[in-house]
Amino acid sequence: MIEKMESKKFEEILEDIDIETEAPVEEPMRQYYFIKKARKYVNELSKKLGRPLYACTKTFGCQMNARDSEKLVGILERIGYVEEPEEDKADFVIYNTCTVRENANLRVYGRLGQLNRVKKKNPHMMIGLCGCMMQEPEVVEKLKKSYRFVDLIFGTHNIYKFAELIVTRMESGRMVIDIWKDTDKIVEDLPSERKYSFKSGVNIMFGCNNFCSYCIVPYVRGRERSRNPKDIIREVERLVADGVVEVMLLGQNVNSYGKNLKEPMSFAGLLQEIEKIEGLERIRFMTSHPKDLSDELIDVMAHSGKICRHLHLPVQSGSTQILEKMNRRYTKEQYLALVEKIRAAVPDIALTTDIIVGFPGETEEDFQETLDVVRKVRYDSAFTFQYSKRTGTPAAVMEDQIPADVVKDRFDRLLKEVQSISAEKCSVYTDTVQNVLVETVNDHDDTLLTGRMSNNLLVHFPGDVSLIGKLVDVRLKECHGFYYMGEMIR
Ligand code: 5AD
Ligand code: SF4
Repeated sequence: MIEKMESKKFEEILEDIDIETEAPVEEPMRQYYFIKKARKYVNELSKKLGRPLYACTKTFGCQMNARDSEKLVGILERIGYVEEPEEDKADFVIYNTCTVRENANLRVYGRLGQLNRVKKKNPHMMIGLCGCMMQEPEVVEKLKKSYRFVDLIFGTHNIYKFAELIVTRMESGRMVIDIWKDTDKIVEDLPSERKYSFKSGVNIMFGCNNFCSYCIVPYVRGRERSRNPKDIIREVERLVADGVVEVMLLGQNVNSYGKNLKEPMSFAGLLQEIEKIEGLERIRFMTSHPKDLSDELIDVMAHSGKICRHLHLPVQSGSTQILEKMNRRYTKEQYLALVEKIRAAVPDIALTTDIIVGFPGETEEDFQETLDVVRKVRYDSAFTFQYSKRTGTPAAVMEDQIPADVVKDRFDRLLKEVQSISAEKCSVYTDTVQNVLVETVNDHDDTLLTGRMSNNLLVHFPGDVSLIGKLVDVRLKECHGFYYMGEMIR
């Protein structure tokens, strides 16, 4: 990735590109060419309007999408757009969509309706849609038919082509649609604009091969592909040189990292290499599939000074029978044994999870098994979801889909249990001193800073904005359920 520090070098490369000739075939030069070309069009329009052009990027879904959006923003900024948080005021609006549950899709349609009204008043406005939802053929059909005012549609596999697609749209004046089913291509060295100067997501792999029966991700993100360890290390080194102290290694299933590389490497091996990078203080990663979590990884975590004391380990259900139908490939007992092994090796680790209620065929007994796991593991926090039927997945055609009122009732009971346990777990740190990475000024009170502990808990404490991005020690004074109020001691 090209980060801020390197933008001078990037400009030098652009200077040598002649946009009057044909576009180069090789990446990333081809995209540099289109960035320069798009910049020319943006400049022309900006002169005509007598003001800068604004772009607004809205991100739905997971960390993976958040990282993709940083790439979108990086390209938009280099094209000459100025970032604008409000979509009504933007000349270019792009939604990076999620489709993991149906209501994510419904939200996008709702917001598009509103955007159409804005576009009517501001006809040169462009609207782009990308991300997971666009990988569903029915979605694209619907957009083509009923949302003709959308300018640009692309998916998860060709984000790197964003500049090229913008130019195609600007030159053709027509709706541009470019969706790929899958790819084995990974394009390095494209611009990216980080949301935070001091922390960053880093993709280590793309796609997923697990095919959990409820999940649409393998269909919209394609097959598993790992990035070359050298490219990952180089990216982290550059990030650190640019002021980053914490990285979040991202993949749908980081525990199977490296299996398909020419020279296979384990995720634990990769972590050890990243740990060596001087100046990097904290390493996080997401997401771990329990079936692939190795003893080697547990050992590396136990001996690491940089890997944060937090593991997100989605259980999805506590019932072995449901887990089998979900194609998770572990039993309740195996999951619990894994948790025990992790806790024995890393006693201060915070465990979080994802849980789905109302999977087809789930009985009250199955649900009780889930509650049992929650009570046994005592998660520090848990994301709870009502099962959502995703067309094309095996679970969508399973018998015994659970009525909405039953799902809602189980969801409410689960949430209550999860919340009361997390509040208890959170409070055990009262009066301890914790190392905290200062992230932002508090949303509600600007005399307070908000920081994150190694175990992912938040703490608010009085302090000066100059501390943002620094690691400081904070005494935790009062627990408020999911966060602390504290006092900086150093
Ligand atoms: N319905 C409800 N929740 C789902 N998830 C994935 N697919 C579905 C679905 N069809 C949840 C899983 C996953 C998280 C990102 O979203 O718990 O871990
Ligand atoms: Fe992330 Fe999955 Fe949503 Fe895509 S569908 S944004 S991979 S959660």
